[in-house]
Amino acid sequence: MTTPSPRIAIVLAAGKGTRMRSELPKVLHPVAGRPMLSWVIDTAREAGCSRIIVVIGHDADRVQAAVEAEDVTFVHQHEQLGTGHALAQAAPAVDGPATLLVLSGDVPLVSAATLEALAEAAGEGWGSLAVADLESPGSLGRIVVAPGGETLDRIVEAPDATPEQLEITTINSGLYALPAPDVFTLLDELTPDNAKGELYLTDALGAAAAAGETVGLVTLDDPAEAYGANDRKDLVQIHRTMIARKLDELTAAGVTILDPDHTTVEPQVEVGPDTVLHPGVSLTGQTRIGSGCTLHQGAWLRNTVLDDEVIIEPYSVLDSAEVAKGCRVGPYARLRPGARLQEGASVGNFVEVKNSTLGPGVKAGHLSYLGDAEIGDRSNIGAGTVTCNYDGQAKHKTKIGTDSFIGSDTMLVAPVKVGDDATTAAGSVITQDVPDGSLAVGRAKQRTVEGWTERQKKKRDKKQTGEA
Ligand code: UD1
Ligand code: CA
Repeated sequence: MTTPSPRIAIVLAAGKGTRMRSELPKVLHPVAGRPMLSWVIDTAREAGCSRIIVVIGHDADRVQAAVEAEDVTFVHQHEQLGTGHALAQAAPAVDGPATLLVLSGDVPLVSAATLEALAEAAGEGWGSLAVADLESPGSLGRIVVAPGGETLDRIVEAPDATPEQLEITTINSGLYALPAPDVFTLLDELTPDNAKGELYLTDALGAAAAAGETVGLVTLDDPAEAYGANDRKDLVQIHRTMIARKLDELTAAGVTILDPDHTTVEPQVEVGPDTVLHPGVSLTGQTRIGSGCTLHQGAWLRNTVLDDEVIIEPYSVLDSAEVAKGCRVGPYARLRPGARLQEGASVGNFVEVKNSTLGPGVKAGHLSYLGDAEIGDRSNIGAGTVTCNYDGQAKHKTKIGTDSFIGSDTMLVAPVKVGDDATTAAGSVITQDVPDGSLAVGRAKQRTVEGWTERQKKKRDKKQTGEA
């Protein structure tokens, strides 16, 4: 028995991507929250590649920095002379025979199952490539099949194609399984005599077929896997496809998504069954949502954890927050990093919470800022309350005990503590600790001037008569 040759992924990522009209290298443009290149690297890893080699060139430092943490090898293509030239740069990094899974950094919807199928098909002949039938094949390379229709004759790039060839709807997805070192020998023979003046990787496959080798065609069950991002329109199509896959998966698992065209859920987000997402909801990063939650229109959550049965009212923004079972947030609330709402707490309109814990049953209904605060069970925070946590130099803490009542428009000048069962009078500026069970009044005493309005009116009338 022969040992199977190692499976090595080579990701082509050196191009500038001129048609993106961007400062950012094409492969770093995010889809569903991550650079396209990162998705490709993930898939290569999932397909069991022993090594992942990324070919970088245009803005190489930036591309390298973006994916460095992902344990890959970089090779440089100093001048971008075409996909064939890009792959040739990897030759010195590949020792001995191997199956190369050659991927494009701008084709991120490919699945590990497809890479598996490519490797298998390559094992039956010289190599293989993934093809798809697309209604509008646009600028993609067209597949000319060998007699019999099962294998490749050659790939014709759109700018080089005859009008008849442009009618072909079977396209090259830019995903291949190729034998090393054979393919490197063929790459050495490429010439740039084509419309783009580039060294086309696709010509190496045509050369193999012309030499009598069998190049297998793997037809993608889901043609979306072949989508490549050459311009912004392609990019958005890929982004929406990735999100749509996620929404389908959630819907199948018992989540109601009322308006999928206007809902964004990134792939790594978790959502429990019986949760309902209204139009315009956006769930990104490492967000996790429990079951039986309702997220109303325009809720925006990033890296946020909601337990079960939480209600997020419309247009609330939650970033790196933690919300326990049965809480209610919004409308128009803002939970910033480190906001923690314990069971049954509620936060209403125009309330901002940062780095603060609101104990079980705490209510902060309206127009407040709660920063660096700890608020005990069942306490009520009146409208307009502000924790004055910053003195211009440093941040300070506010501590409020259980069952306390903070009157409307209280300024809590931190560091300060309010005990249990305590009350602050509305409009107070609290600069000293308030002991358990007490009332603190920190405002000017009211003065009432009786008959003032009438006297003012008389003064005005007199003045007007004098002027006439
Ligand atoms: C390529 C294929 C085309 C296929 C399409 C699928 C060739 C000649 N054509 O065309 O048949 O239908 O992909 O999406 O291969 N790159 C480099 N160095 C270079 C040039 C490109 O690393 O010198 C990288 C790019 O960064 C990109 C990938 O290779 O990630 C594909 O290059 P691109 O220029 O987008 O090729 P297409 O014109 O889309
Ligand atoms: Ca492309």
